[in-house]
Amino acid sequence: MLNKIKEKFIKDIRQAKDLKELEEICRCCLGRKGELTKILRSLKDLSGEERKEKGQIANQIKKELENLFQEKKLRFTNDLPHRQTNWIDVTAPGILPDQGHLHPLTLVQKEIEEIFQSMGFSVVDGPEVETEQYNFNALNVPKDHPARDLWDTFWLKDLDLLLRTHTSPVQARYMEKNNPPLRIIVPGRCFRHEATDATHDVQFYQFEGLMVGKKVSAVNFKGIIEEFFKQFFKSDVKVRLRPSYFPFVEPGFEVDVKRNGDWLEIMGAGMVHPNVFKEVGYNPNNWQGFAFGAGLERLAMIKYQIDDIRLFYSSDLRFLNQF
Ligand code: DAH
Repeated sequence: MLNKIKEKFIKDIRQAKDLKELEEICRCCLGRKGELTKILRSLKDLSGEERKEKGQIANQIKKELENLFQEKKLRFTNDLPHRQTNWIDVTAPGILPDQGHLHPLTLVQKEIEEIFQSMGFSVVDGPEVETEQYNFNALNVPKDHPARDLWDTFWLKDLDLLLRTHTSPVQARYMEKNNPPLRIIVPGRCFRHEATDATHDVQFYQFEGLMVGKKVSAVNFKGIIEEFFKQFFKSDVKVRLRPSYFPFVEPGFEVDVKRNGDWLEIMGAGMVHPNVFKEVGYNPNNWQGFAFGAGLERLAMIKYQIDDIRLFYSSDLRFLNQF
């Protein structure tokens, strides 16, 4: 009987998983109503000889079990599993926080800026809210000129202002304040009062280019723009100029680039019109230059094979996280 109790409790103590469980076992064994306590109490009913013999064994077992409880208790209060909660493994890899990144249009803009900067162009900007003077008049598009129909304009009610329809007004703004020779590009946001579809949005980005010097010719333009596309598309590209009309240039071109066997229309360009030079105070007999304007989204769409311009403004992370 006594040995059975001893073995049972030794086993229980060994299997105790935490301090609470151990204390419960201790109570069942040595508590006021514990199994061993009961036996010790019942000894008084035994006869002298038996009481002495059993008493010795029972007390011996009591001591052993008490020691075992004590030992195990120390392990819970002092030992590794307890301390492990305070451990720091300095060699463990950390949890990387989510990091933001630049918008694809910003990336493309930066790339364009870098390429032109490497060819001596400065990056310039201008206001998104423009005057009629800079958006049209200074660019050889006087009031009531039919060419104004080329740009569906957002006019600001009751103010003599509009949302710029292109980045070209910065040509006039810059030339007014700076003397030639000059080389600038002007990336920026533009607005048109148009229905949206896969290739049109009411807001979009353009970048304008302008180079003015004593002998700047269309040949210089072709050389520079070819070099730009070569670096931008990271491959040799064929460029073709087709005659076109823009009021602020003469002659005007449409610039096409050959990609995968197809000619794609990419930008408008031309030789700066003498009236534009006159408007900003340059003598057209002394200076000549080229200008061009291209859609940033269109270039990004061709480069990354994106088929809908609205994706750029959708804030859709499935799209944005690819850049
Ligand atoms: N501003 C024109 C547009 O938005 C694009 C353009 C064409 C710009 C010819 C130029 C240019 O500088 O020379 O449609």
